[in-house]
Amino acid sequence: MGQVYEKLMRCYEDVRKRTAFVPKVAVVLGSGLGDYAEDIRVEYELPYSEIEGFPVSTVPGHAGKFIFGYIDQVPVACMKGRVHYYEGYPVSDVVLPVRLLKLMGAEILFLTNAAGGVNTSFHAGDLMLIRDHISAFAPNPLIGPNIDELGPRFPDMSKVYDRELQKLIVGRAKENHIYLQEGVYAQMTGPSYESPAEIRMLRMLGCDAVGMSTVVEAIAANHTGMKICGVSCISNLAAGMSEHPLSHREVQEAADMAAPAFKRLVTEAVKGMAAFLTA
Ligand code: HPA
Repeated sequence: MGQVYEKLMRCYEDVRKRTAFVPKVAVVLGSGLGDYAEDIRVEYELPYSEIEGFPVSTVPGHAGKFIFGYIDQVPVACMKGRVHYYEGYPVSDVVLPVRLLKLMGAEILFLTNAAGGVNTSFHAGDLMLIRDHISAFAPNPLIGPNIDELGPRFPDMSKVYDRELQKLIVGRAKENHIYLQEGVYAQMTGPSYESPAEIRMLRMLGCDAVGMSTVVEAIAANHTGMKICGVSCISNLAAGMSEHPLSHREVQEAADMAAPAFKRLVTEAVKGMAAFLTA
């Protein structure tokens, strides 16, 4: 057994000593969805720091715990806080939580984040359905010996974001009068924001939004065969697209403003996911 898988199994066994809860949908809460837990019927909360060896975020506003419970009838695991590659963790640690949730039973992964808008028609506060991603600027989490227990050596990536889940999210957005952009998300390593030249490059490459998370998690989840969907909150226009410099505070403030619509969309979409789950 490789080291990465061994560590994952140790975390899994540790979690299973505390809870027998089987989540079917895993939701990663990005900036702005930090207090989303209010909408969950909570069964059990588990701070990351209590799991032996589990990566714990160092970013303000990302305090970490799993929240297990129900949204409507759907058993969910919400990740309040995630770790980022720029914090210095190996990418295998960054994706450990997603793999752990798969082992616990999660069939669907719903990724959310705050992102810079690269598409010139986007505005701060917009929500964007992730149609596809560009991983070329982030480390691939599958590098190293393949974990055969989780998935194949060369996973197909032609439909990472599940078409039916995309339809569900678009439908729920319409029903709730939530304006939803759509596009391609690129993950950069961070922690510095991009330069204006990098943003022009990303636009030429077909990116609509840029951030520092999500893609590595999507790659690891896709490897395990999970169904994946994602929504970004466009918290700012990317570098060079507005007069003032970017700040973490601006990102958090815009994400907070979009939070009510974002929460609503997540809740309504998760309710609809019941139809996609095995009995
Ligand atoms: N760039 C990268 N990551 C981000 C941004 C951005 O402009 N906004 C929020 N996360």
